[in-house]
Amino acid sequence: MSQRLKLEIKALDAVEGQDLVILVSDKLTVPGAAQEWAGEGAQGLLTRAAAAERFKGKALAGLTLPSPEGTSYERLVFMGVGPEDDSAKLDFVKLGGAIAGRLGTGRSAELILAMPEGAVEPKQAADIALGLRLRAYAFDRYKTKSKDKDEAEPLTVTLRTADPSGVKKAVKTADAIAAGVIQARDLVNEPPNVLYPEEFADRAAKLEKLGVEVEILDEKALKKIGMRALLGVGQGSRRESRVAIMRWNGAKKDEKPVAFVGKGVTFDTGGISLKPGAGMEDMKGDMAGAACVVGLMQALAGRKAKVNAIGVIGLVENMPDGNAQRPGDIVTSLSGQTIEIINTDAEGRLVLADVLWYTQERFEPRFMINLATLTGAILVALAQENAGLFSNNDELCERLTAAGIATGETVWRMPLGKAYDKMIDSKFADMKNSAGRYGGSITAAQFLQRHVNDTPWAHLDIAGTGMAAANSEINRSWGPGWGVRLLDRLVADHYEG
Ligand code: BES
Ligand code: MN
Ligand code: ZN
Repeated sequence: MSQRLKLEIKALDAVEGQDLVILVSDKLTVPGAAQEWAGEGAQGLLTRAAAAERFKGKALAGLTLPSPEGTSYERLVFMGVGPEDDSAKLDFVKLGGAIAGRLGTGRSAELILAMPEGAVEPKQAADIALGLRLRAYAFDRYKTKSKDKDEAEPLTVTLRTADPSGVKKAVKTADAIAAGVIQARDLVNEPPNVLYPEEFADRAAKLEKLGVEVEILDEKALKKIGMRALLGVGQGSRRESRVAIMRWNGAKKDEKPVAFVGKGVTFDTGGISLKPGAGMEDMKGDMAGAACVVGLMQALAGRKAKVNAIGVIGLVENMPDGNAQRPGDIVTSLSGQTIEIINTDAEGRLVLADVLWYTQERFEPRFMINLATLTGAILVALAQENAGLFSNNDELCERLTAAGIATGETVWRMPLGKAYDKMIDSKFADMKNSAGRYGGSITAAQFLQRHVNDTPWAHLDIAGTGMAAANSEINRSWGPGWGVRLLDRLVADHYEG
């Protein structure tokens, strides 16, 4: 893990870095506030170079030029923000990402926080800072040879603003969110020999430093409670299972908490219903739901969110072994319902069944949202563009959908219903853990719903969005840390104060 970014915030009183970054609209004029620093020749240079390079000031496009004569910096970097008076539509997080990408590592840069129409607002500046940080993240813990020394050098960016104190305050919040996303990415990227259930729980316990109360349940405790569905999944592994409970108390003591639940299968071989070998290494990411919950709790605590929040994660390793669970086994979940195991590779729902029931009974939350890399079928339906959203509550769906659009971590609602529910009835037990290929994501969600009562609940199937991410403006790593910004936004918009 490394954060290759040093971020500073200063008044517009000098330009000291190697690169000067200036935001320009499609009108291609150097903003007033930047003119003094860019030098006299800057506007002429921009006009000529833009024509030659077909740079039109489109949002997130960039143009890098050698600096005009008589200036102290080396490169002049113009970043497009699109049409003027359209900054409401501009994604400032992506803009920050695009800027970090264009600058590269080992440079020092000054970013003038001025738009063609005026100053960049503190909130917008904070989004830029978030994008800079997320783009500058690299998971390089296991690289022992840095081919190019420059690659490992940090990028230093100084935000130059007329309102340093306002920007500093907003960036502090953004930094807490960035730290949460980066925590989630680190967990998803870690190899499964390093990150097994106990180690995962230890990392969650580190949140205590931020004031989060953390409780770890070991196998003895889980047996006593009766989480037999979860324990059945882990019984083929040499590694012990764990459940971690995190509590952030940011609101009044008597205020009901919101709850987040995560699937934390630290490696999913499929168990006795063994997965094919090709691509199995990706199953180290089968804990992305739990990683998101830890990252979210870190973000909420880091920015001292005025909310009471619970995070509960089920941590197991799904392995084939002489002691492993078999197809045909029947287990009794914490809810008292019996489950026939048809396919030991449909393990995530078994873990979540117990953890959801436990969370609902113990904490009586205002809502419960679970995240899980639950089904390959959600990739068939939605690719990596949207998480599947399944819920018993329209209001929660609307709020999640809006938070998705606001953050770019989008969700798409999928159906639930009686006919689908019937598909998981079992000949031998109350239900079975797999109903075959048709509607695979839906029947998985129905299974979860059988372990939820009237609590407003939403299930996010993040098998597509939570791991194996494509390169984007704000992420170059395999683990995107998906969901931290989405859920932080949901909390900020509706559940604080
Ligand atoms: N962890 C997998 C789902 C998955 C697939 C996540 C691809 C990320 C990428 C899950 O435990 C699983 O194996 N699901 C099965 C369910 C089936 C056996 C009913 C699946 O999707 O094939
Ligand atoms: Mn599986
Ligand atoms: Zn799985």
